Amino acid sequence: MFPIHRPRRLRRSETLRSMVRETSISPQNFIYPVFVTYGKGVRKEIPSMPGCFQESVDMLVENVCDAWRLGVPAVIIFGIPEQKDELGSGAYDPDGVVQKAVRALKDSLPDLVVITDVCLCEFTSHGHCGVVADGETLNDPTIELLAREALTHAQAGADMVAPSDMMDGRVSAIRKILDDNGFQHIPIMSYAAKYSSAFYGPFREAAESTPQFGDRRSYQMDPPNSREALHEAALDMEEGADIIMVKPALSYLDVICRIRERFDIPVAAYNVSGEYSMLKAGVKLGWIDGDRVMMEVLTSIKRAGADLILTYHAKEAAALLNG
Ligand code: PBG
Repeated sequence: MFPIHRPRRLRRSETLRSMVRETSISPQNFIYPVFVTYGKGVRKEIPSMPGCFQESVDMLVENVCDAWRLGVPAVIIFGIPEQKDELGSGAYDPDGVVQKAVRALKDSLPDLVVITDVCLCEFTSHGHCGVVADGETLNDPTIELLAREALTHAQAGADMVAPSDMMDGRVSAIRKILDDNGFQHIPIMSYAAKYSSAFYGPFREAAESTPQFGDRRSYQMDPPNSREALHEAALDMEEGADIIMVKPALSYLDVICRIRERFDIPVAAYNVSGEYSMLKAGVKLGWIDGDRVMMEVLTSIKRAGADLILTYHAKEAAALLNG
């Protein structure tokens, strides 16, 4: 009791504080999300996400080489195809934009961990994450297409696949097709607890994937739920997920924490587009110190229990951490 206990004693100098610091972040914790598009020499900044771009494969390779030099070990690729159709066929085209990006990145940076987002929404004309009939997004026909998509990613050389669609049973469908085709060694990072969130707004502009009707509430999770997140994570683990993800991160730190306590496999969290855009908007208005808020945000996600953080800040945070 006071005056015997004075927690301030260990806060007196930066050296002391650094000795008792409980959480540290490093570029090794980061996965850098990138948007690849068709064409050559294309680098279009995404208006609501300053510092993020839609890039053609050639420009993407340059960008990712910079990230790699800064110590960022992994990227996750999202594709914007030239054409979209009802069944999202660009997603499982062996020569699609994502598959091309995977090959180019592995050629230039063989040690980079190339992760692919497995979903149909960027490739469907209606913008939903699956096969649509009578206004419903169908589960079982969708997982067949997702499995095909994941296989083409692995065949192109992807080191890991990350299904983000929230269909039931997609992890086991992907595990099976990978195993049947000699890709037993390719891990699956599942978006296990992915909420139906308004924080994805800027991403949908970036990926041109806004649903043309309705919303994603019949497949993504209802934001008030957290026990359900444990159930989703347990199912994905049983189906063979190697890493489980919570998304978004900041409004769901409690979910990250509960999942971390319950399960012993690596946990990832996605610091999503809306979180990034709000921070950048605050900086633009001169209302917050961008570097400090960014580090506080990333540290909070790690402190909540995430081992890996998918973040658009990957490069700038790595540069800051490298001093
Ligand atoms: C695709 C997908 C989305 C995000 C990642 N994969 C958007 C969505 O579900 O609409 C969001 C990422 C972000 O907001 O940064 N299913």
